[in-house]
Amino acid sequence: MTRSMSGDEAAHDTRRARQWLAGRARGEGVHREQLIALGTAMGALAAATGEADPAPVPPSGRPGVPAIVKPLDPDLLTRYGANAEMRWEAMFGQGYVVPTDRFFVRNHTRTPLLDRDTWRLRLFGTGLRGTPTRDDPVEFGYDDLTAMAAEETTALLECAGNGRHHFAAQQGQPMPGVPWGLGAVGVARWRGVRLSTVLRHAGLTDAAVDVMPEGLDPDYVTGGVNLGRVRRPLPIAKALHDVLLAYEMNGRPLPVDHGFPVRLVVPGWIGISSIKWVGPVEVSATALFSPWNTQFYRMFGPGHPADGGPVTTQVVKSAFELPWDARLPAGVDVVLRGRSWSGNGPIRTVEISTDDRDGWRPATLDPRDEGSAWRRWTAVWRPPGPGRWTLRARATDVTGAGQPERAEPNTLGYLFDGIVRHPVTVT
Ligand code: MTE
Repeated sequence: MTRSMSGDEAAHDTRRARQWLAGRARGEGVHREQLIALGTAMGALAAATGEADPAPVPPSGRPGVPAIVKPLDPDLLTRYGANAEMRWEAMFGQGYVVPTDRFFVRNHTRTPLLDRDTWRLRLFGTGLRGTPTRDDPVEFGYDDLTAMAAEETTALLECAGNGRHHFAAQQGQPMPGVPWGLGAVGVARWRGVRLSTVLRHAGLTDAAVDVMPEGLDPDYVTGGVNLGRVRRPLPIAKALHDVLLAYEMNGRPLPVDHGFPVRLVVPGWIGISSIKWVGPVEVSATALFSPWNTQFYRMFGPGHPADGGPVTTQVVKSAFELPWDARLPAGVDVVLRGRSWSGNGPIRTVEISTDDRDGWRPATLDPRDEGSAWRRWTAVWRPPGPGRWTLRARATDVTGAGQPERAEPNTLGYLFDGIVRHPVTVT
């Protein structure tokens, strides 16, 4: 348990965000050219990725209002329209968790600004006693949730498409979607109330099989079709196991971009499961479906089942805490740092290679991270001489799953587990 949540802090956060947004809307601190460039970039990105309509004005209809509210320091994050990925060099010298200023953001549309005091969690469906309806649900306010027993968990969140860029860059297989490098991942301390606690308060019955949380961000429109609010069902077993309705991240009220006032945190499962800005929650005695478990987040393509297997957990990945094409000095020992993680469970081994010819050697695993969501590691390397070198890291997890030279492709570019070739220049 940590200190109890201060409601004033949360209210202050929203107020500050609104004031800041009002300033942005008036054009303070941002040039018209930048807004046009942002709109054009978003349009180009949408056209390139097929992920959203290539409309220069974000779906809220408020021109110039940014889709991500927090400042995006280019030394910490790389922006792709309404999304931003962490730069791995920004983790060099950091602790176990990712500070919020560099935590990746994945928005299907934009960050909504919700009022904590009028916000309600609304549960309904055939899996609850008395079958409350969507129009007459069982409701909980923010203060109701914070009054329930709180729990804190340190969990990793990773987008299913993390690493997608490397299908194109390393394997010549471009895929639609946000071209994430390896930075659509982060570990944070989340505090909130267990979803199971709230479900029981709402009258959960033994008949319930699926739970579908729904975000309060704008409807997602793609290819001219409105798919409605972002939502994806969870089986009841997972919902009752370890899912949190989180209202704090890294000891502070949840930031607006990460789901204020309340989001799901679904440990071990792909990021789309962790619905942000949650409002309605359907609890059903029959299986539930949405485009996010039928159309997206399935493994389509040759070698996969015809209907595409649904994606739940992530694969094994490793990253160096170095800039892409880092400059390193020749002839002196350099401590290479990195992290490895897997959706299957803790990391068991990590090996690194500094040159295609020198084979693999073990990295030193940080004993503090034994059994944790990700594992920090180091390896000492003395670059022999000037030139271009390729660093590689590969890990295995407790289930024996590892990282192949080539990731198995799939049409939507999910679950890249290949060994990433990280170029460095030695001077
Ligand atoms: N929830 C809502 N309501 N809308 C979204 O666009 N994106 C999902 C998930 N929850 C999303 C959402 C995806 S794909 C990911 S990877 C995570 O949120 C990202 O969480 P973050 O932005 O806090 O890093």
